[in-house]
Amino acid sequence: MEWTRESRYKKYSEWDAETLLKLQAQATASKYQMSYHIRPQSGLLNDPNGFSYFNDEYHVFYQSYPFGAVHGLKSWVHLTSPDLVHWKNLGLVINADTKYDSHGAYSGSARVIDDKLFLMYTGNHRSKEWVRYPYQIGAIMDKDNNITKLDKPMIEPVDHITEHFRDPQLLKHRDEYFVILGAQDAETKTGKISLFRSKDLKNWQDLGYLDFTEEEMGYMVECPNLVFVDDQPVLIFCPQGLDKKVADYENIYPNMYIVGSDIRLDKAKFNTDQKAPLNLDDGFDVYATQAFNAPNGKAYAISWIGLPDISYPTDSENWANCLSQVKELSVVDGELYQRPVPAMASLREEGTLVRSEEVFDGQQIVHSAASKHYELKLDLTAGQNGKLFLAANKDLSQGIEIKFSTADDAFLTVDRSKAGIPFAEDYGTTRTIALPANKQLSLDIFVDGSVCEIFVNNGRHTLTSRFFAPDGNNKIAFISDKKLQYTGTYWNMKNI
Ligand code: FRU
Repeated sequence: MEWTRESRYKKYSEWDAETLLKLQAQATASKYQMSYHIRPQSGLLNDPNGFSYFNDEYHVFYQSYPFGAVHGLKSWVHLTSPDLVHWKNLGLVINADTKYDSHGAYSGSARVIDDKLFLMYTGNHRSKEWVRYPYQIGAIMDKDNNITKLDKPMIEPVDHITEHFRDPQLLKHRDEYFVILGAQDAETKTGKISLFRSKDLKNWQDLGYLDFTEEEMGYMVECPNLVFVDDQPVLIFCPQGLDKKVADYENIYPNMYIVGSDIRLDKAKFNTDQKAPLNLDDGFDVYATQAFNAPNGKAYAISWIGLPDISYPTDSENWANCLSQVKELSVVDGELYQRPVPAMASLREEGTLVRSEEVFDGQQIVHSAASKHYELKLDLTAGQNGKLFLAANKDLSQGIEIKFSTADDAFLTVDRSKAGIPFAEDYGTTRTIALPANKQLSLDIFVDGSVCEIFVNNGRHTLTSRFFAPDGNNKIAFISDKKLQYTGTYWNMKNI
């Protein structure tokens, strides 16, 4: 169907139930479907929202447009989990149904306040002339998961910020509330993180912009997020249009982070020794990451696996994207680590040991017919070179190619150019990271339908890639000049 402004912004109630059921069936039947990642029941999923712990459960919401693989009228879908792995979908809970969010309930955050979960998000309102007014809206969720929106916006549009003013994260520091928001400065048209302060959640004082870098952060910052990881403040954000001289990246828009030395929200100051922001994920498809500090003392992150302004092959099946698995964050020697949460292991079926084969004929088969949903852990000794293929055909001419060296020039490259249906090729088909020279390489690889998440060296790097392989490409194998030394385990993964 041809998408027009009218059809994208048509009220949900004006769509018929049958259409929705058909779209849901189509998404479920897709051969690219994930089984243990949060995925849309129909239509398009984008940012994770309101990631939190409340009432003895984890909560996450996601941006949803249920009627097609387009960015139409957005709402929030709610999921809960006891362990950050098994999620229950509670359906659409924040609809675009007031004057202030008439053209979309955009991204936002959640925080527990007085036995309730306080949600704060951006209401996207457009006038008849299609001028956008962003309102920062509050909503309260009780222990029965009922959500009531506040009557009036908490923060109205401000003069020094353009219409690009969204994605509030509500924070608390020394008895005061703060909100950070993505913003575009009206005068310079550059990307900023806007900061507000309040004692009572009602009266908000504009503190200007957070001072966290000397550099220009492109033309817009989306989805800013502050989290404390091992007592250090970490700022996660999406600087759109960032000059690649400031920080290198290959995706259309980067999702980056800065580890801080300390933060003074009341002084609007985030201090860091880091010279430039770094990519949060070294792969192709991570964006809009949200992280939060859980009551158990840990910091968790979850991302949108998908990017704005990129078409994905499932668009033709009327659904798109998914969320990442939840990652536990830590900072070791100033570097951010992201690891799978322990409960991921509960999805494993019985494991099969894999190790270097006795016979060597140039190919070493790890699995000749892998499932579409598996985890593969591998340790490779130092001093080796080779290629690992995932989702490959028989002669390994097709598949995700992971080229590596654990010798002097140690590196890892993920190449998806021959992995299946091409997409987003304008932004390159390979991603490379440098590795420490002459060290063992450990890989924890999660494949789920059309998603591949690779954790390198215990979470020092993650590389996330979508891929759309032809049916039957289910071989996992190494090729190299010499016989490789590796050991590991392969598990089929359960559905959630
Ligand atoms: C990021 C984003 C946010 C916005 C939301 C709308 O992907 O553009 O800035 O709130 O998506 O769905």
